[in-house]
Amino acid sequence: MENLDDLYPSISDLAAKARKRIPHFAWEYLDSGTTEEVSMHTNRTALDAVKLTPRFLKGVQKPDLSTTLFGQRYEAPIGMAPVGMSGLMWPGAEMMLADTARRGGVPYCLSTVAAKTPEEVGPAAGDMGWFQMYPPKDAEVRRDVLKRVWDSGMRVLVLTIDVPFPSRRERQRRSGLSIQAGVSRQMLAHIAVRPGWALATARHGKATLATIAKYSEAQDLEGVRRYFVDHYNHNPSWDYLKALREEWDGALVIKGVLDPVDAEQAITLGVDGIWVSNHGGRQFDAAPTAIDVLPQIAQTVAGRAAIIFDSGIRTGLDILRALSCGADFCFAGRPFLYGVSAAGQAGADQALHIFRDDLTNGMHQLGTPDIVSVQALENGRHP
Ligand code: FNR
Repeated sequence: MENLDDLYPSISDLAAKARKRIPHFAWEYLDSGTTEEVSMHTNRTALDAVKLTPRFLKGVQKPDLSTTLFGQRYEAPIGMAPVGMSGLMWPGAEMMLADTARRGGVPYCLSTVAAKTPEEVGPAAGDMGWFQMYPPKDAEVRRDVLKRVWDSGMRVLVLTIDVPFPSRRERQRRSGLSIQAGVSRQMLAHIAVRPGWALATARHGKATLATIAKYSEAQDLEGVRRYFVDHYNHNPSWDYLKALREEWDGALVIKGVLDPVDAEQAITLGVDGIWVSNHGGRQFDAAPTAIDVLPQIAQTVAGRAAIIFDSGIRTGLDILRALSCGADFCFAGRPFLYGVSAAGQAGADQALHIFRDDLTNGMHQLGTPDIVSVQALENGRHP
């Protein structure tokens, strides 16, 4: 049997294989950023610039990667970030990711615009399922979504705040895939072999089932897009967050925070987690690099909420970098989808293995026996 660790020793190897294996427009959707992709690229260069000083003769035998977040134990401080239309990259991608997450003991955050429902993914993810919410405009629909997510066993709700307006995604457009302008023929042809995508995507809310039926009768994804535009509020307010806080009993996280002022306000409204992210460089090309703003946000939050980090994480080393800059937990978006696109379920497992193995290696170098001691590093050195 081929050894995946030899075939794909790094996330870049999974990405190279994915690029060959999936349709061009699906690759462009997954891999691209927005505008000139400056923020996407600086996510990497800024992470590379964080140096960690090794320490030896400390007798660390077997680093413990486990950590606790929102009262749940996770086997490593790395999770799978929400990626819309994962089923476009590979049929059943969401179920594969949920399965890898459950077996690996790390969180999988299902996107609102995924190809599977919370009812399908929740049980598959076991205790590891989170749900990312793009906010429904209608309060009834919102409550219905929250109930469905809760009944599916998911206890962490992530409100994404950094998509007040769809970004231009020039590379995606060049490939023929344009969400705003409807969906190209090429994409429709691809989706035709993924039954249920359209209905599953427009899946929210009994209150609007009639609307969904109307749109799906049209049997085109432009209808699904219209459903989303008509019923979802891209730019929610602080009052919206307040309402969500009152209605959701589980942990509540806001995703896409880049300014300490926003972090502070969210904390006063009672959120449990601040997710520092520039959406992997997909939203606003002048946005600061997430790792650069992380220390200041962590300082402002000062332990009153958990700090979650993403944008550019490709190695276990990057996880160590983010933890040393103030994060409690990291997520990665593209890497797990590169894995699924390269080698299905085994590829998702391999992406997680790469992160875990590299993290273990790095902790040996740093002489840090556990996650708490990594977080205690000051400017990359033992205090
Ligand atoms: C995303 N991301 C995202 N975020 C979110 O809250 N809801 C979503 O539906 C999506 N969809 C999505 C699709 C694709 C193709 C990508 C690559 C990303 C952002 C994602 O959750 C995460 O913030 C970034 O992917 C992190 O950057 P890296 O790890 O990809 O560098």
